[in-house]
Amino acid sequence: MYSPDALVASNLTRWPSFYDQERGLSIKNNRLFKYATVAMLLTGALAFAIRSVQAGAAQKTTMDGVYTNEQAARGKTQYGQACASCHMDDLSGSGQALPLAGDAFTETWEGQSVGDLFDLTRNTMPPDKPGTLSPDDTVDIVAYLLQFNKFPAGSSELKSDPDTLKNILITKKGNAPPKQ
Ligand code: HEC
Repeated sequence: MYSPDALVASNLTRWPSFYDQERGLSIKNNRLFKYATVAMLLTGALAFAIRSVQAGAAQKTTMDGVYTNEQAARGKTQYGQACASCHMDDLSGSGQALPLAGDAFTETWEGQSVGDLFDLTRNTMPPDKPGTLSPDDTVDIVAYLLQFNKFPAGSSELKSDPDTLKNILITKKGNAPPKQ
């Protein structure tokens, strides 16, 4: 039979080791928790970095100087040969050939991408022989359309790379978020 004294004594001898075990466990948990936290932070930071890069790319707009004046000059020559017969020298359009300048044009294209304008031009214009413009000529003509519509020129040329083009938003409003 245990006397109360023996019980106290046995508990006294047991408790410290019991606590040590608990502490060991809690230290281990604590370390696991730290690793998990670090891993979560790293994952979060990575996701954030990727999102920033994507957002940075998508955030480019036609207000950022995405073509050069030299390129637009080449585009003007191409435009004169391939487009002006219908859309006119001043881009005002004629008959069914819609205007490519002024409010009508900038309102139609506001919120779309330069890639959309490039694709439409390359795939459907001129309507009697679509697909005949090379990507380089098309991108030069697009640069000319941007210049004529008073989007600022910049120091590097617009490239005919589809990913680049679709990440440039056509807008007169600076860094407006893209239309959903
Ligand atoms: C033979 C006449 C003709 C020629 C040449 C022509 N287009 Fe067009 N274009 C049209 C017509 C017609 C439309 C309207 C098409 C429609 O409503 O679907 C149009 C529409 C467009 C549009 C869409 C305008 C908008 O606001 O939706 C763009 C951009 C365009 N043309 C660019 C060009 C470019 C750049 C060239 C030269 C490479 C060109 N076009 C040559 C007749 C022409």
